[in-house]
Amino acid sequence: MDPVLNPFRPGAGRRPPVLAGRERILTNFDVVLRRAEEYGEGDRSWVITGLRGVGKTVLLNELMSQANARKWIVAKVEASASVPLRKILATELAKAMRTATGRHLGGSKLKRALAVLKSFTLKLGLDGVTLGAEVEPQHGVADSGRFGEDLTAFLEVVGDASLEFGIGTLLLVDELQEAPSADLEAINMAVHALGQADIPPPVFFVGAGLPSLPAQLAEAASYAERLYVYQPVGLLGAEDVRRALVEPCLERGATWEGDALEQAQQMTRGYPYFVQSIGKHVWDLAPGPVIAAADVAAGGALAREEIDAGLYRSRWERATTAQRRLLTGMAQLRGDNAVEIGELATHLGKARTSDLSVARQELIKKGLVYAPERGLVAFTVPGMADFVLSQDG
Ligand SMILES: Nc1ncnc2c1ncn2[C@@H]1O[C@H](COP(=O)(O)OP(=O)(O)O)[C@@H](O)[C@H]1O
Ligand SMILES: [Mg+2]
Repeated sequence: MDPVLNPFRPGAGRRPPVLAGRERILTNFDVVLRRAEEYGEGDRSWVITGLRGVGKTVLLNELMSQANARKWIVAKVEASASVPLRKILATELAKAMRTATGRHLGGSKLKRALAVLKSFTLKLGLDGVTLGAEVEPQHGVADSGRFGEDLTAFLEVVGDASLEFGIGTLLLVDELQEAPSADLEAINMAVHALGQADIPPPVFFVGAGLPSLPAQLAEAASYAERLYVYQPVGLLGAEDVRRALVEPCLERGATWEGDALEQAQQMTRGYPYFVQSIGKHVWDLAPGPVIAAADVAAGGALAREEIDAGLYRSRWERATTAQRRLLTGMAQLRGDNAVEIGELATHLGKARTSDLSVARQELIKKGLVYAPERGLVAFTVPGMADFVLSQDG
C-alpha cells in the first residue's frame, strides 16, 4: 500500500497512531488535571517504569501535550549521566516560563516566579538561560546552591503562579534512572516538601525510567516508596495489539483478514515497538486493501530483522566476550526474567558472586541489563534472551 500513507511509527519516542492499553493511566491523569484546575490542588506525583520500547516516552509526551493544550506550565527533560539534572531542568523551566508569560498576561505571581527562577539559574551559573533582560533576580530565594532546597523554593512560587491562572505546573523527567543519586535525592526532597502543605500546590512531577528506578529512588530517600504513585507500563494485551494494528488501517481504508491479524498479534508478543515495526512493514508490502497472512509473514520477517538489528544486535555488539558469557548465562537460566546473581555465578562456574561484579557493572552502564532489585539482574529490552540464545553457538 502507499508508503506515504503508512500510519505506523516504529522508533524511540515516536507517537503511535493508537496509544493502546494506556487508558487507565490517561484517565488518572485527567483527574490530576481537573483537580489542579478546579480545586487548585496538587496530586501525588508519579513514577512510570518499564523496559525499553514499551512506550514510556510516548506516554510522557502525551501527558505533556494534554497539559500544554490546557495552557499549563510544562517542562520536560531527559536526565543523563553526563549533565547535572539541575542544569537541564533550569534551562527547560526557563523556556516553560517564557511560554507561560506569553500565554498568561500580567500575573504578579508569575513575575515573582520568573524572578526566583532567575536567581536559581544565576546561582547555577547558567549563562545560556534567557528569561528576558527585564527580569530582575529575586535574591535570597532558591539561590542557596543546594539543589533540593532551591528546587522546592522555586516550585512553591511556580505553584502560586499556577493558582493565579487556574492551571497547574507539570514537570516531566524521562530516563530518570540515569540521574545521579544526589539529583534523585533533590527531586524526592522537593516532591516531599510540596506534598506536605495543607493544600499541596498544583505542581505535578512525573518521572519515567527503567524498572530499577523505584529502588534507586528508595535508596536516595527511604520515604520514596510512599512518595510516588508507581505506574508500571508493560507489554500490551492481545486485544490492545489488535486495536493498535487495525484502527490506523481502517482509517485509511485497509482491513486485516482474521488469520493475518492473529499471526501479527502473536509475533509482537505484546511488545509495543514490535507492533509499530510489523505494522509498518506489513503496510508497505501488502498490495491491499485487505491484508493477508502472506503479507504478515513477509512483513513480520522484516520487522524481526529491524528489531534484531536496532535493538538486540547493537547491544550484543557492545558487549565484550566476558560480558556476553554473562548475558548468555542469564538467557539460559531465566530467559527474559530476572536472575539471581548467586545462581548465575554458580551456573557460570564462578567461585564468588563478586567475580561477576565488573562485567555486571559494565553491562548496567552500557544499558544492556539492570538490577530490578538488589542481587538480581535482568535484560532492559523484552525479547533479548531469545536473541542472545540464537547467537550462542
Ligand atoms: N501504547 C502503545 N501502543 C502502540 N504502540 C506504542 C505504544 N506505546 C509505544 N508504542 C510504540 O513503541 C515504540 C517505543 O516507544 P517509546 O516511548 O520510545 O518507548 P520507551 O520510552 O519505553 O523506550 C514507538 O515506536 C511507539 O510508537
Ligand atoms: Mg524512552
